[in-house]
Amino acid sequence: MKKILITGGAGFIGSHVVRRFVQNYPNCHIFNLDALTYAGNLENIADIERAPNYTFVKGDIVDDTFINQLFEEHQFDGVLHLAAESHVDRSIEDPLSFVKTNVIGTMNLLNAAKNQWKGQEAGKRFYHISTDEVYGSLGAEGLFTETTSYDPNSPYSASKASSDHFVRAYGETYGLPYVITNCSNNYGPNHFPEKLIPLFINNIINNKALPVYGDGKYTRDWLFVEDHAVAIDLVFHQGRNHETYNIGGFNEWQNIDLVKLLCGIMDQKLGRATGTSEKLISYVKDRPGHDLRYAIDASKINKELGWKPSVTFEQGLERTVDWYLNNEEWLKHVTSGEYAKYYEKQYEA
Ligand code: NAD
Ligand code: DAU
Repeated sequence: MKKILITGGAGFIGSHVVRRFVQNYPNCHIFNLDALTYAGNLENIADIERAPNYTFVKGDIVDDTFINQLFEEHQFDGVLHLAAESHVDRSIEDPLSFVKTNVIGTMNLLNAAKNQWKGQEAGKRFYHISTDEVYGSLGAEGLFTETTSYDPNSPYSASKASSDHFVRAYGETYGLPYVITNCSNNYGPNHFPEKLIPLFINNIINNKALPVYGDGKYTRDWLFVEDHAVAIDLVFHQGRNHETYNIGGFNEWQNIDLVKLLCGIMDQKLGRATGTSEKLISYVKDRPGHDLRYAIDASKINKELGWKPSVTFEQGLERTVDWYLNNEEWLKHVTSGEYAKYYEKQYEA
């Protein structure tokens, strides 16, 4: 039985990837390694926790001794690395924790994989899941391709760019079989409500202000999380070694237009009069170093692996809203405790 390590599998995207792998590959044993930070939540994957081909391991990728022991014990055949500090605003407040997890943590996994697979690289794969933010910001025109130069602007994107470079360097220097994907903004069920869409859904439910940064004209390319999980599955199994693939939604929205669309859906779902939620929109001070626009050219993964998004934005957003309205307990659990302190510091100081 092949053994696959997935890191960050209790987080937003990781939980969808872990579920997909556990359910689709009964002949593989899936190990989900997660430190359960504020962003990690075992409730996200409660439905598969008893599957015979699944093991959860609580641990920190920054701890090299622990990581080396884990690799020695299990002799993994493949790694899908999603664990990260992922929120740009938090990286502005505490950049060092992003360096620790995103750079040192990735290094520890690379070292362990390199040492374990030395001389037996055939059939092994280190898959590093990264972001389009490493490319920096686009102007009004153009798309990020796999050859766009790295130009990160936030401590988060700088830490992800750094980890991407180390993955590539381990491929070139030590022959580590790797693949990297750089994906655009995900949305969907289990998204932690510090990020735009789930934050605003939660605030609308609670009749709280919707803090739009700057003039709201920043643009993101949104992808439904389950479509990202499908792409990750394809790249892990069929992507070419030492290659990068961009993944995106073909779905650009200015923040303010997205927020208005969301407000309309929420009014309808909550039985509120049209225009009620829009009244909550409040323009607040901008994010420092705010990237104007991200947009992905996903033609390489489309041509090579036949991937394209299956869900329209309207369908995905409606499914997302329904999920949050049907999972109020989940929302309550993740927004109690540490989240309340974060929220106060970020928005009410
Ligand atoms: P998330 O913040 O929801 O989840 C991150 C997970 O990693 C959590 O479960 C957390 O507990 C775990 N983790 C954090 N630090 C750890 C550590 N030191 N050791 C072990 N586990 C740790 O993140 P996400 O949005 O699901 O993103 C997953 C990956 O995808 C990240 O690498 C991110 O950079 C990348 N990505 C995210 C998006 C997006 O829109 N969310 C888009 C492109 C790429
Ligand atoms: O592009 C991929 C990236 O997308 C991932 O690598 C990151 O992990 C993920 O967090 C996301 O980064 P963004 O910074 O684009 O996502 P966020 O949801 O924080 O913000 C989306 C846009 O909305 C951005 O222009 C900032 C704006 N925004 C965000 C928040 C939280 C607001 O206007 N108000 C807010 O309160």
